[in-house]
Amino acid sequence: MAEIRTLTTSQLRQTSSGERFKVLGVIQQIKSRSDKNNRPFWELSLVDSEGSVEAKVWSDGKWWDTRSGEKIPLEPDVSSIAAVVLNAPVGAIGTASEFRGKQQFQFLEVFLLDPERFPISSFIQSSPVPIERMEGDFRAMILSCGPEVRTFLEKVFSGNIWKSFRELPAAVSHHHAYVHGLLEHTLSVTMAARALAEAYKRSGVDIDLDVVTAGGLLHDIGKIESYKLDPFPSMTVPGTVIDHIALGYSRFSSLAEEHGLNADLATAIGHIIISHHGRKEYGSPVLPATPEAMVVSSADELDFIMFCWGTFPESGNGEPSISDFHTSAQRRFWRSKFAEEDGS
Ligand SMILES: [Fe+2]
Ligand SMILES: [Fe+2]
Repeated sequence: MAEIRTLTTSQLRQTSSGERFKVLGVIQQIKSRSDKNNRPFWELSLVDSEGSVEAKVWSDGKWWDTRSGEKIPLEPDVSSIAAVVLNAPVGAIGTASEFRGKQQFQFLEVFLLDPERFPISSFIQSSPVPIERMEGDFRAMILSCGPEVRTFLEKVFSGNIWKSFRELPAAVSHHHAYVHGLLEHTLSVTMAARALAEAYKRSGVDIDLDVVTAGGLLHDIGKIESYKLDPFPSMTVPGTVIDHIALGYSRFSSLAEEHGLNADLATAIGHIIISHHGRKEYGSPVLPATPEAMVVSSADELDFIMFCWGTFPESGNGEPSISDFHTSAQRRFWRSKFAEEDGS
């Protein structure tokens, strides 16, 4: 019999219908359901360092506890199974199938693993961009600013703020929802905003690059209070009921006062933070009113949809690669032949 391959969650997307596989990861979500014969089954989400996969375990699926080195059956009791396997490292043997043109996965056997040998941290997804490169780019951007903005940013992005900022995700789902995601998103937004600002400056628009840089680097500063790693990205209570825009503006105002930032500069940067979602219905109480705020807000929206485009699953059926309708981005995405031929 052919050996069953051990695949990562991203490799699972390339499997064909009927293929058996092994996969390792942490169960991030598990829900019990009942089939039409009233037998329980489970829907779960398994996460590894490359992403996540949704799978079902039917009532005849086997659950094993191998933490002690022995293979002991776990009673698939509806009330207790979730408590035992949630946030735990597991291995699974499963099969891929297709239903109405969509890839599906079924786990036939699930093995609870020893967390000492399979630490949860090894399964948590992290930014694909090397952290040293992001830190270098971040510091270079601060150094490009004039003395007043540079000194302020150096003071802000230090100590505990920097520790949280470089570590945390930019979201719980949708975009950059992984370790170092906030740093990756912030860098892309600031680089894109500066490029836009430079283009408009050449066209004669009076736009201040230091304000753009500070606004870009600080636009989501409220997310350090909105998100936590627990061990997966999750939302804090203040993040849920106050939101990162209000938290960020409040944090920035305190920092501006504490470090004696010039009042006009503080208003210009504060305006970027509070307007960066671009629309009242998206959570910004005012719309971008300055060129600096317009480029940061546009770059922020662009980075979100670019991320969605970059991560939509391949259709895998040889047809032109069109995504399912993406509710948040309000469109389908297309990975065209041109992108493939460019190797980009
Ligand atoms: Fe934001
Ligand atoms: Fe953002």
